[in-house]
Amino acid sequence: MEEELRVRKIRNGTVIDHISAGSALDVLKLLGVTGKEGYTMSISLNVPSPKHEKKDIIKIEERMLDPREMDLITIVSPAATINIIKNYTVVDKKRVEVPDTAIKHHIRCINPNCISNGSEPITSLLYVVQKKPLHLRCKYCDQVIDQKQIMSLLVH
Ligand code: CTP
Ligand code: ZN
Repeated sequence: MEEELRVRKIRNGTVIDHISAGSALDVLKLLGVTGKEGYTMSISLNVPSPKHEKKDIIKIEERMLDPREMDLITIVSPAATINIIKNYTVVDKKRVEVPDTAIKHHIRCINPNCISNGSEPITSLLYVVQKKPLHLRCKYCDQVIDQKQIMSLLVH
């Protein structure tokens, strides 16, 4: 397959596949992966694919994702699949899912006057009010945050 010619298969690690075209860099930002961690990685953007028009793919060797990180990926790429590779074989394939209840810590509230943005030691807690397109609501001030606003509100 054409995509195989671009980036070789990996021995062990994680392949995040079927990422919405053009969103791979946002996925890395969400995961807090900068490249400075030293993982061997390849990132393919806007690759032609038979199933979707185009897609992005991220391959990270010797790195697994925890369930929370998988949930976060849905924020920018609801159709992504996470493939766990062991000894060159796909041993697990997961579709990402928007969590039903809440997103904690990783996205701050957009309201600058919100108590979760103040000096109080309160971390953000946003309820999922709608999955597609994603809408979140702040537990503390009821502010609604939409999909387009989310990338600028990431907390690392
Ligand atoms: N992959 C890889 N290294 C491996 C095995 C697989 O980089 N040792 C990559 C493939 O290139 C592909 C993804 O992991 O991007 C999923 O592999 P596979 O399940 O074999 O591909 P498909 O059947 O095309 O997956 P899907 O049905 O999810 O599209
Ligand atoms: Zn708030």
